[in-house]
Amino acid sequence: MKLRLLLVPALVVVPVVPVALGGWAVVTVENPPEALVAGVPYEMEYTVRQHGVTLVSDMKGRVEAVSGSRRVMADARGGAPGKYTARLTIPEPGDWTITVHSGFGPGKTTMVPLRVAKAGSPVVAMPDAERGRHLFASKGCMVCHVELKVAPDPRDGEYDAAFVRQILADPRSVPRRRATGPEMPNLGLKPAEIAALTAYLAGPNSAGSR
Ligand code: HEC
Repeated sequence: MKLRLLLVPALVVVPVVPVALGGWAVVTVENPPEALVAGVPYEMEYTVRQHGVTLVSDMKGRVEAVSGSRRVMADARGGAPGKYTARLTIPEPGDWTITVHSGFGPGKTTMVPLRVAKAGSPVVAMPDAERGRHLFASKGCMVCHVELKVAPDPRDGEYDAAFVRQILADPRSVPRRRATGPEMPNLGLKPAEIAALTAYLAGPNSAGSR
């Protein structure tokens, strides 16, 4: 009996536990850049939420950036519950694809390739709809709407802008279409991010089916 009690903690620290529990996670980049400059460190902040809802702490995450055969990596450090930071320095200009590996099972977020500028060159801001296209990847929307398909891909729908703003800012305030399964989560989007995602998903000519 005593022996059994001693063995339990050893099992708990096995790192594959999240997978064994059938967990999947949504990784949300909190400060996705509009542009990066080669040689200038980018202090990325991201959040890991199991099923898009429950904050997951103490994971060994890392951030990876790839451009052709070049690759740089940065280990993440944990902070507040579910929050992580990683300091990434991209060495050369070019188109770089950044991926956050959460360490929670295979849970990851891959961003849209980003143009990294030469040191000293002017940085150009993105138009709202283009920013929205980037955010749709960096905020983790793809996990549910494209990879797991727990909900339809909102890029195929025609929405009223006010509806998109509302479901992003306060998902619970919108009546659900399905009674079961995962809910549209509140990912703590900032007002400017909601505006950009709305420009991307609703668009000026949307008929607004919902
Ligand atoms: C945890 C999974 C999950 C994540 C992550 C997620 N969604 Fe959703 N989303 C859902 C589900 C489930 C619904 C459908 C809810 C319902 O009506 O039953 C939904 C509904 C929506 C709708 C309304 C679709 C419709 O036709 O009614 C939009 C628009 C939307 N999500 C956009 C986003 C955006 C943008 C992001 C990223 C910022 C995102 N979602 C992230 C699960 C998710």
